[in-house]
Amino acid sequence: MAVIPVDLAGRSYKVHVGPGLLARLPELAGPLLRKPAVPVVADANARRLWGAALDEALRGSGQTALWYDVAPGEASKSWSELERLTNWLLAQGVERGDHVLALGGGVVGDLAGFACAILKRGCGFIQLPTTLLAQVDSSVGGKTAINTAAGKNLVGAFHQPALVLADLATLATLPPRELRAGYAEVLKYGVLGDAQFFDWLAGNGPKVLALEEKALEQAVAISIAAKARIVAEDERETSGARALLNLGHTFGHALEAEAGFSDRLLHGEAVALGMVLAARYSARLGHLSPADAERITSATDAAGLASEIAALALDCDGTALVGHMLHDKKMDAGTLPFVLLRGIGEAYLDREVALDDVALFLDEQLRSH
Ligand code: NAD
Ligand code: GLY
Repeated sequence: MAVIPVDLAGRSYKVHVGPGLLARLPELAGPLLRKPAVPVVADANARRLWGAALDEALRGSGQTALWYDVAPGEASKSWSELERLTNWLLAQGVERGDHVLALGGGVVGDLAGFACAILKRGCGFIQLPTTLLAQVDSSVGGKTAINTAAGKNLVGAFHQPALVLADLATLATLPPRELRAGYAEVLKYGVLGDAQFFDWLAGNGPKVLALEEKALEQAVAISIAAKARIVAEDERETSGARALLNLGHTFGHALEAEAGFSDRLLHGEAVALGMVLAARYSARLGHLSPADAERITSATDAAGLASEIAALALDCDGTALVGHMLHDKKMDAGTLPFVLLRGIGEAYLDREVALDDVALFLDEQLRSH
């Protein structure tokens, strides 16, 4: 098992990574779970597959789980679901000093985390992420949110969990497509700040995707450690350091919006393609060598992730995609900062990108292949 600290003064916590951690919840959470009945907000699929493991673990410490099921899918990050959940938590008598468990992927982590951020002005919560994306990204760092009619993740709060248990065994039941989507975020950590990790993934990526224990634990732990370092430096995304985690997200967000934020394009898939586009655009500006842009494309292909917009069969042009970018919540006083690359492992924030040039670039990308 690897243990990664997230150093945030009074809000510091640990992320445990390894197989079989759900069974060790009472031991690892210790006094955080102080009552006999423990509220668990769960993705319905995660509960069906892994709920028994959690029930058994809590039984072992003389406790019981109080289950709250969340329907799988992005639609659950809504005002109505937030209202239903907060009412349920209040009905269970959850107090500020209690810790609610969030079992599932990023949808449940974001929803439950936000409910806990506002419940009685903030109660505790523990993340039990069961998707690769949630383990390496969404469960760590304290961003919580729901979606509104105006867009994704537009209403939320920074609210750090008190503990994260990334049980690698839970990934065994994850659909392969979801696993690959999560792998895009793993690859992202290499591309944005760790060339050595990027090289390591070139040899070990297939082992990670095959869930080989040693490689998987190493990849997840390195990814979380990278995120923990960045979050510790810039918890609220004010200095620019945390914004680098958005590599691939500006292009990706536009593609997700054009695809209607549907199963047609999963978030991780959009990030992978967005990362390739950020690399190609960096090369077009002369900041990244074409060879490095090609290596990023190859790494994406090797993971079975799409690296060409054409694969999405979108019916739009570059201007329409840039139009979606203008609704990005990263817009800042009329400019949109882009995360671009000077090399593999050398991401930087560019606030001078001309959106009409991006539209032309995207037109070329839509036409090619
Ligand atoms: P998700 O939560 O929708 O889960 C994906 C699918 O996997 C769902 O169908 C779910 O039922 C299923 N599932 C979950 N665990 C499973 C398991 N062990 N076995 C079988 N099936 C399982 O998707 P996600 O990719 O985990 O998260 C995406 C969400 O995360 C988005 O809403 C995104 O906005 C958010 N996100 C948040 C942050 C953050 O920093 N807070 C970062 C990245 C993404
Ligand atoms: N997923 C980006 C962040 O946590 O900042």
